[in-house]
Amino acid sequence: MTEPTHPELRQAVIDTCLGMNRTHLNQGMSGNLSIRTGNGFLITPTSLPYDEMRPEDIVEMGFDGTYLGSRQPSSEWRFHRDILAARPDVEVVLHAHPTFATALAVHGRGIPSFHYMIALAGGDSIRCAPYATFGTQALSDHAVAALEGRLACLLANHGMIVLGTSPKGTLALAVEVETLARQYIFSLQLGEPNLLSPEEVARAGEKMRAMKYGQVPDDGGENDVARPRGA
Ligand code: 13P
Repeated sequence: MTEPTHPELRQAVIDTCLGMNRTHLNQGMSGNLSIRTGNGFLITPTSLPYDEMRPEDIVEMGFDGTYLGSRQPSSEWRFHRDILAARPDVEVVLHAHPTFATALAVHGRGIPSFHYMIALAGGDSIRCAPYATFGTQALSDHAVAALEGRLACLLANHGMIVLGTSPKGTLALAVEVETLARQYIFSLQLGEPNLLSPEEVARAGEKMRAMKYGQVPDDGGENDVARPRGA
């Protein structure tokens, strides 16, 4: 038997999926993950618990929808493929059904600019894509549209999709989106929260990008706002 390709990326897929379980973004067999390779992508197999996944179980796919390997790709391979094709800025696509994001999504609600941390998801809102049956081209089309200019969206009556440039950064953003969903649901208990203006979210986003605030160390830089002692 030939050795599976991209051994480090395969391990990164498994580690990130185990991270989804550890952070309670996922349970059971829900969710899936893909990482771009040179000319295609690696994706989790369908219906295999993350804690049983071995590197050779990860499926290699091309943008033409063909796959290599003994397991079948995730039922959501279409949106993984279409997002990676439409978004050259993205290396990793994460899909999960975490409780709070899904609770908003079953009402068809996205997340508005109630907190400046929303800027980490690339804009002043996280949209909720309309419902379509899992695995369909219609769901993929809705997801690509809802993600325009964004790194996250909710999927009505389903869950969330989060995008990133590294596995760790994508997992961290997914945890942040679920936290925002939880905070938003709590804030709704007291009535409609005050929203920040688009200008203020943009200002906070610029400042966070400059400081690498809210980003994992792998994704870059240092705090360049405070000056290190002796510098
Ligand atoms: P797969 O096991 O086929 O990836 O499906 C899980 C899921 O969450 C579908 O949306």
